[in-house]
Amino acid sequence: MRKILVLEGDGIGPEIISCAVKIIELIKNKFHLNIELEFDYIGGACIDKYGVPIRKETIQKAKKYGIVLLGAVGGYKWDKLPIRPEQGLLTLRKEMGVFANLRPIHSFPVYTGPLKNTSQIDILFLRELTSGIYFGKPKKTKIVNNQKIAIDTMKYSEKEIERVVDMAFKFSQKRRKFLVSVDKANVLESSKLWREVVNRKSKEYPDVKVEHHLVDSFAMNLILKPQYFDVVVTENLFGDVLTDEAAVLVGSLGLLPSASLSFNRGLYEPIHGSAPDLAGKNIANPIGTILSVALMFKYSFNKENIHDLIYNGVFKTMEEGILTFDLSPNKYYSTTEFTEKIIDNIIKLS
Ligand SMILES: NC(=O)c1ccc[n+]([C@@H]2O[C@H](COP(=O)([O-])OP(=O)(O)OC[C@H]3O[C@@H](n4cnc5c(N)ncnc54)[C@H](O)[C@@H]3O)[C@@H](O)[C@H]2O)c1
Repeated sequence: MRKILVLEGDGIGPEIISCAVKIIELIKNKFHLNIELEFDYIGGACIDKYGVPIRKETIQKAKKYGIVLLGAVGGYKWDKLPIRPEQGLLTLRKEMGVFANLRPIHSFPVYTGPLKNTSQIDILFLRELTSGIYFGKPKKTKIVNNQKIAIDTMKYSEKEIERVVDMAFKFSQKRRKFLVSVDKANVLESSKLWREVVNRKSKEYPDVKVEHHLVDSFAMNLILKPQYFDVVVTENLFGDVLTDEAAVLVGSLGLLPSASLSFNRGLYEPIHGSAPDLAGKNIANPIGTILSVALMFKYSFNKENIHDLIYNGVFKTMEEGILTFDLSPNKYYSTTEFTEKIIDNIIKLS
C-alpha cells in the first residue's frame, strides 16, 4: 500500500485539490491500486490551526510516505505576519530533499493567450529547488547608518549543481539530446561555478549537445523561438521566474503542473500560487493540479500509461471546447463542472 500526503493549502488550494482527488479516486478504482490518501495542513491554514506554516509531524509523514500532492499556499490574510505561509512550502521542499523541479511546458489544444507563435512547443524545465538565493544565509535586514539594508545570499555547492544537472542530462538523452543551461555567468560567481559543473558533466554525456544561455537573453528567446528549446536546466530563482513567463506560451498559469523529485521522493503541485482573486468562486483552472497527478503516476508509481490517460482526458476535454474561466471568460465551465467533463473523458478513453 502506498500513502499519498495531501496538503490543500490556501486560496484556491482546497478547490483544485478536491478535483485532483476525484481523479486519483477514479484511477485507483479503475486500476485497482492500493493507494490511501491522508490530509494535513500547510501554509496559512496551518498557521491558523497550529500557529506554524508546517508541523514537524507533517514533514515526517512527507518523508516517510515519499509522495506529496500540494495545492498552493499564501494569501492577503497572512501577508503582514512575521512568519509567512510560503515558509512552510520552502521547508517542506528542503526537508524532502526534492532538488529537481520538473516543469513541462508544451502546447495545449487551445491557445487563447496574446502570442502568435505557440504551436509545437515542448520544453522540459528543470529548476533547482532546494538551494540558491531562497535558502542562502545570511538572509536578513539590518540597520546601518540609520537605514535598512536587506541581504539575500545566492549560494551553490558543486554537489547541489551536479545532481540537478545530471538529472537534466538524463532527461535530455531520452528526448532531443539537446540541453540548454541558463545562468548569469558574466556576472555571478554562483553562475560561473554552475557553468563549470555543466561543462564537466557534459563529458559524461557526449551524445547530448549543450548550450549555455545568459538568463536575460534566454528570457527573450523563450518568447521569440520557444520551439528551439528542449530540456532547460537552471537555478532556483531564474527557474521560478522563467517558468511563469513560459505560462504565457501555453495561455494560462492554471495549466502548468510540476513534479519536484529527489532520488526517491516526489512532491507534486501546480506551478501557480493560491490565486486569492479566484478563491471561493469555483472558477480556478484545475488542469495544473490534475496534470501534477499525472506526473505523480509517472514518476512515483512508474505508471506511464496512467499519466498518458490523464493527459489524454484533459486534452480531449479542451478539444471539445470545454474551457475554464481563465481561457474563455465569456463562456466557461466551473472548476467542478470542468473536472466532471475530464472524468467522463478519462472513463471513455480507458
Ligand atoms: N507554490 C505556491 O504555493 C505559490 C507560488 C506562487 C505564489 N504563491 C503565493 O500565492 C499568493 C498569490 O500570488 P500571485 O497572485 O503572485 O500568484 P498566483 O499564481 O496565485 O496568481 C497569478 C495570476 O494567475 C492566476 N491564476 C493562478 N492560478 C490559476 C488557476 N489555477 N486558474 C486560473 N488562473 C490562475 C491568478 O488569478 C492571478 O491572476 C501569494 O501569497 C504568493 O506568495 C504561492
